[in-house]
Amino acid sequence: MKILAIIASPRGMQGNTGRLLEEVLAGVEESGAETEILSLKSLKVQPCVGCDVCHKTGICSIKDDYEGIKGKLLASDGFILASPNYIFSVTAQMKALFDRCNGMIHCMALEGKYAALVETSGGGPDEEVLTYMGRFVNSLGAESVGGVGSSMAGVRAFPDENSLYLRARTLGNELCRCIAEQRRFPEQEAFIGDFKARMSGLVDYMKDFWPFEREFWVKKLTR
Ligand SMILES: Cc1cc2nc3c(=O)[nH]c(=O)nc-3n(C[C@H](O)[C@H](O)[C@H](O)COP(=O)(O)O)c2cc1C
Repeated sequence: MKILAIIASPRGMQGNTGRLLEEVLAGVEESGAETEILSLKSLKVQPCVGCDVCHKTGICSIKDDYEGIKGKLLASDGFILASPNYIFSVTAQMKALFDRCNGMIHCMALEGKYAALVETSGGGPDEEVLTYMGRFVNSLGAESVGGVGSSMAGVRAFPDENSLYLRARTLGNELCRCIAEQRRFPEQEAFIGDFKARMSGLVDYMKDFWPFEREFWVKKLTR
């Protein structure tokens, strides 16, 4: 089982989010899965330019690290998204990645995969950012097994660390268990079902302009 962790803090693994992610990864490793960390700090993911080339060809027109990240997501069984709270949302680095995934979202290309979410903040709210990341995961067709978020209490320190780290390790275990069991989350599946109808409808409407996505959906719906 392969789990890919993507961390979007400009401090990489050295910051608060990296510290909390370490605990989630410890839970993943305890469960026997293989882990890989991609830190957006050391990768180049430029903002989307809205050219629509991904919809036409399946490949982004911007030549940077995005296609490599996409390949790793597609090859994973599950993934972890980790971001600090920057002004009630994810960092610009994470948002740039989300936007670049627009072609994958149109195809709901990560259907069948599972994700876990990690967030840290100065003082919260934490749930808002976790909910936002969860919506991104569902729009890719994947299901979220849950998230862990906390405000910080200094450098790589949190209030009530023992209980937070236990929740983080349990989340890592849970990610692997959900993959092994192919667990279903009915509430998320309702959203995913509605979103699927919307995306397949959109791609059908644009079929003369977006041949890659048209082909993708024809294959997906006849599988
Ligand atoms: C540009 C910027 C914006 C931030 N915005 C918020 C915010 O809106 N709410 C909050 O609680 N903390 C905010 N913070 C604090 C960070 O979320 C917090 O320190 C976090 O733990 C940093 O994670 P890191 O060490 O992994 O980078 C902000 C920090 C920065 C640098």
